[in-house]
Amino acid sequence: MRDATIAVLAGDGIGPEVTTQAERVLRAAAERAGIALALHHYPIGASAVAAVGSPFPAETRAGVLAADAVLLGAVGDPSLDQAPRELKPETGLLALRAALGVFANLRPVSIHPALVDRSPLRRERLSGVDLLIVRELTGGLYYGEPRGKTALEAVNTLRYSVAEVERVARVAFESARRRRRRVTSVDKANVLEVSQLWRDTVTRVARDYPDVHLEHLYVDYAAMRLVAEPATLDVVLTENMFGDILSDEAAVLVGSLGMLPSASLGAGPGLFEPIHGSAPGIAGHGVANPIGAIASVGMLLRYGLKLPEAADAVDEAIRAALDAGARTKDIAGPGERVLGTAEVGEQVLGFLERRPLAVGAP
Ligand code: IPM
Ligand code: MN
Repeated sequence: MRDATIAVLAGDGIGPEVTTQAERVLRAAAERAGIALALHHYPIGASAVAAVGSPFPAETRAGVLAADAVLLGAVGDPSLDQAPRELKPETGLLALRAALGVFANLRPVSIHPALVDRSPLRRERLSGVDLLIVRELTGGLYYGEPRGKTALEAVNTLRYSVAEVERVARVAFESARRRRRRVTSVDKANVLEVSQLWRDTVTRVARDYPDVHLEHLYVDYAAMRLVAEPATLDVVLTENMFGDILSDEAAVLVGSLGMLPSASLGAGPGLFEPIHGSAPGIAGHGVANPIGAIASVGMLLRYGLKLPEAADAVDEAIRAALDAGARTKDIAGPGERVLGTAEVGEQVLGFLERRPLAVGAP
């Protein structure tokens, strides 16, 4: 029997609630695939600051680097908004991404038919929406030096090397080959030198993928396209900060930030996390949407453990649960019954367990 070690970093706010449901689904999916799973839990974010005084403790670093994949809940706590940077929960997340070297962040966005009226966009705009944001995750303004802040002035640095752009561009083109063969690269090349280097590099990489159509958009126009004509987008390739902003905007298409998963990939273990934050306002009430976290388990199985059938089974169980009316508050329509986090997890699990095993599975 194959085995796999998963580092679980539940984090802050609603992180633990949604991660508990994701773990149940992960255990069930692995068992069906005949994988002996070991789940090890480590602290991160504000809860790690409270427990051991660091948002990314050494024990967490060692644990994630030794794992086959990392499942993360969420980090963030408003009580640390004024804390020094080394104690901020977000600093822990950035350090985790850097330690893992996960430079390519994949954020797929598609619309579940039963939820089409949950989006503020008109139904006809949403028809055919199926896009993948490929966000550069370990460079750009988030990491650039020098950085700092005094009472009178603050500085951050935007810097990308050709090598950094090239490797994430390749991920985007490879992904496009498995999809509709279109890459939209987003930059601000009319103003920024970094964007000009980005555009030149992406254009050069594109020569290796003559079967993939490439277009370049300025980020302001891309923001508009994303809501005006989202179905025209397939793979959206962009740098760290633009990708952060555009992915929250893309969540509006789906109706809730709570729905969307992500995979962050590099040479070592991948990191799998819902794109939502710690949502302190609803934490602890058992009402958060666990679908983004559970769908991240699907991506963990697909990209982290290379178990496409198990991943398909999880995605299918999510679809079935949504079809059957599984709705947390954020995605419930007028008159629809509202379920809690655990009940939605339960429903997905139920559909996963009821699904016949694929032929050939143990
Ligand atoms: C995300 C989040 C993070 C980011 C924050 C929590 C640092 O917004 O994963 O999109 O900006 O990358
Ligand atoms: Mn974000």
